[in-house]
Amino acid sequence: MEGDMEHPYQFIDRVIIPHDEIQQRVRTLGRQIADDYRDSERLLLLGLLRGAVVFITDLMMHVNRPMTMDFMSVSSYSGSETSGFVRIDSDHKTNIRGWDVILIDDIVDSGYTLKTVSKLLLDRQPRSLKLCALLDKPDRHQVDVKIDYLGFSIPDYFVVGYGLDIDEKGRNLPYIASVDLDKYRKLGG
Ligand code: IMP
Ligand code: MG
Repeated sequence: MEGDMEHPYQFIDRVIIPHDEIQQRVRTLGRQIADDYRDSERLLLLGLLRGAVVFITDLMMHVNRPMTMDFMSVSSYSGSETSGFVRIDSDHKTNIRGWDVILIDDIVDSGYTLKTVSKLLLDRQPRSLKLCALLDKPDRHQVDVKIDYLGFSIPDYFVVGYGLDIDEKGRNLPYIASVDLDKYRKLGG
């Protein structure tokens, strides 16, 4: 049982979403995407590095359709706090004009990341653009953002695992776990 197992990081508080629940939900999302895009000839899953990597690789194997994958890298975070300012560190390679794009992130917090990146992508004239996130913290939203494909809504915890990190740590956990931020700071980050 994941609940009883020893975590490889001392700052973990507890498991919020176990691995099998994530897998089930991701499979449902993938099948839904395959169905919604059955008439699409140019489907692109565009993931935000590095948090969305684990999610997108699992998700796409359930999208039983011709598709391609690309990535962008953006940053706005340091530790557990957003700066509100989103910087593009590396851009996608695909020319998305005329493509059906699904922009994928690991988690929505303030909403600035998906809002800012989707505005930028719309200027590049995709045929359609939808948003997908594994997790959402609705209590934290500072801007209006509509997530078309969502895995789970969670309370206002800082979480790691399944690709999500705190200062690059925790991405390898196969489940989503909350971070004890006091302990994290005491341990020296
Ligand atoms: P937003 O721009 O405030 O919506 O923040 C979204 C980005 O912040 C995501 O791409 C994550 O990288 C990061 N983030 C927000 N909350 C968490 C969390 O609880 N754990 C790990 N990363 C988070
Ligand atoms: Mg991220």
